[in-house]
Amino acid sequence: MTSLQESPTAAGSGANASENFKAAAANQDLADTPPERVAAIVTAVLKGVHTAIEEYDVTYPEFQAAKAWLMAVGEGGEWPLFMDVFVEHAVEAQVARSQHGTKGSILGPYFLPDQVRLPARAGLPRRADEQGTPLALSGQVRDVNGTPLAGAEVDIWHADADGYYSGFAPHVPDGNLRGIFVTDDEGRFEISTIQPAPYQIPHDGPTGQLIEASGWHPWRPAHLHIQVRAEGHRPVTTQIYFAGGEYLESDVAEATKPELVIDPQDDGTGVRRSTYDFELESD
Ligand code: DHB
Ligand code: FE
Repeated sequence: MTSLQESPTAAGSGANASENFKAAAANQDLADTPPERVAAIVTAVLKGVHTAIEEYDVTYPEFQAAKAWLMAVGEGGEWPLFMDVFVEHAVEAQVARSQHGTKGSILGPYFLPDQVRLPARAGLPRRADEQGTPLALSGQVRDVNGTPLAGAEVDIWHADADGYYSGFAPHVPDGNLRGIFVTDDEGRFEISTIQPAPYQIPHDGPTGQLIEASGWHPWRPAHLHIQVRAEGHRPVTTQIYFAGGEYLESDVAEATKPELVIDPQDDGTGVRRSTYDFELESD
């Protein structure tokens, strides 16, 4: 049993997500956006804010409450969480317009690079007493013409049966339920893991306050995060969801797509099995 004390707080997961994002950003090219484009985008964003103020006859106390809230999100380190829940899906949808092959979904704040490399058929690292229904996901990585991609990386990370991610929850050991499967000569892989639970975005901080103040709910449906990479191909960052899963129709992060839903069936030994193939376009 997870004790309350060990449960991650919004501030704890937020701080870890912020550190992780800063480390990743330091190794990446961030946008080199020309001034005219910055001005156009920022003007459009501000216009949206100004329009809402006018439309809803926003008062000074509401304006000051918004300022206090924005400050609290920053002080709590919750910007990566907030951005990935409420904004990333729109960026992903925009980018997806020019991407062929497997549908993408949001990366989210909990990707960690350089996890353990595993053979094509293996179990994800997990605790000796890891809770949850055994789940096996097998499939093939191909290019968009159907050619199998040997040596492709299927990088997977997901929450445990309580909805917590390793690296962002103090009671979960590092590297738990994270790993990179390398496809065999036929581009195939088989991942053994456990069924994750729905994920509740941390609700004891300012993002949670906003969700409560708006009468929304803080849940994402259970999902597997997967990034598939192969040399010479555009990587696919996506998520796999489960048919009939709670919150599938009301994901707070609006990151589900019908093409990304699997329906694993018990194979008679208590393992739920499904297949999913990935298609990558050349870069
Ligand atoms: C968040 C967490 C996730 O697991 C996810 O897939 C997307 C967003 C978040 O807390 O921001
Ligand atoms: Fe997630």
